Amino acid sequence: MLNDFESVVKSRRSASKFTQGIDISQKELEQIFSLVKFAPSAYNLQHANYVVVTDPLMKQKVYEAAYKQYKIQSSSAVIAVLGDLEAYKDSARINEGLFHLGFFSKQELDSEVE
Ligand SMILES: Cc1cc2nc3c(=O)[nH]c(=O)nc-3n(C[C@H](O)[C@H](O)[C@H](O)COP(=O)(O)O)c2cc1C
Repeated sequence: MLNDFESVVKSRRSASKFTQGIDISQKELEQIFSLVKFAPSAYNLQHANYVVVTDPLMKQKVYEAAYKQYKIQSSSAVIAVLGDLEAYKDSARINEGLFHLGFFSKQELDSEVE
């Protein structure tokens, strides 16, 4: 287990260019996002939203906005990660389930929301 973790950490690299003209399928994107939802978030606010950009015109705009990084043009898809600055407003709804399941007392729920 530890060796698996160490090898993942040490072998990963940021990709800086891609083979042009290769499409990423909807199925592959769905596989990625079915795993992304397990990512932890501060106060479990789940404030990250993901926008997948594959449309060439939109990608060109992202390319310009990202200081013309070649990888954006050559990638199959650009995934913009957006942080919802108002996610805290959803705290009651997110935590309500834990209250109903008995993980939180009413007092703990109120304190968490506050
Ligand atoms: C939050 C974040 C933003 C990054 N943004 C860019 C980026 O815009 N362009 C880029 O080429 N690399 C970007 N990187 C990758 C870093 O430059 C890269 O991690 C660093 O050079 C070390 O290389 P490695 O990831 O292959 O070990 C980003 C990394 C992080 C964590």
